[in-house]
Amino acid sequence: MSEYWSTRFAREGMIWGNQPSPSAFQAKAWFLEHGVKSVLVPGAGYGRNTKVFSSDMDTYGVELSHAALELAAAWDGGTRFIEGSALKPQLDITVDAVYCYDVLHLFLAAERRRLIDASLAQLRPGGLMYFTSFSDEDPNHGHGIMLEPGTYEYKEGKYAHFFSDADLREHFAAVEIVETGTFTESLPSPGSGTHEYILRSILARKRK
Ligand SMILES: C[S@@+](CC[C@H](N)C(=O)[O-])C[C@H]1O[C@@H](n2cnc3c(N)ncnc32)[C@H](O)[C@@H]1O
Repeated sequence: MSEYWSTRFAREGMIWGNQPSPSAFQAKAWFLEHGVKSVLVPGAGYGRNTKVFSSDMDTYGVELSHAALELAAAWDGGTRFIEGSALKPQLDITVDAVYCYDVLHLFLAAERRRLIDASLAQLRPGGLMYFTSFSDEDPNHGHGIMLEPGTYEYKEGKYAHFFSDADLREHFAAVEIVETGTFTESLPSPGSGTHEYILRSILARKRK
């Protein structure tokens, strides 16, 4: 996994451009409404989305790819980036919120659980979570070899988990779910204009 992303970041640079996901602005507005002062961004990439938060909150980005972190250091000087796995806690403090964009679907079931557990371990009681991931309404759902229920190797050597609303809610059963939703994200696609992804979002609160 780490090699796949590092090769892509080293070759393609800012793969999805420098514009944040609209979901980052939505998350930030929700976080500010609730007085959030610190946020953790697991799988932060090159800082496209961390920059939305770092202007107003203490922002921590955890990222496995060294190549992505080199880009991130130049793009978002306001975030403290940590090189390491988001599947285990990396902070020695707890934060008020977690924003995690399109990372959860990259893993098989046991690792998805680890990502959620590690995020929760670094979140204060009552803290907020905003996660996005592939939807089972995305056209890639059901393509290729099924590795686990809902998880497909939809391109050679590349797999993802595609969430139904019920599946997403089940992953977050330990926390208070505030809202789930679905949206279409249009991202630059290297050499081929743009690509549309159908995503799900979940807003949740860690129990006190
Ligand atoms: C689809 S990209 C999303 C990047 C970023 N969230 C964004 O929207 O720009 C997934 C990211 O997760 C990172 N990643 C994959 N496995 C990871 C892990 N175990 N810990 C931390 N980051 C990881 C990849 O290197 C990549 O940057």
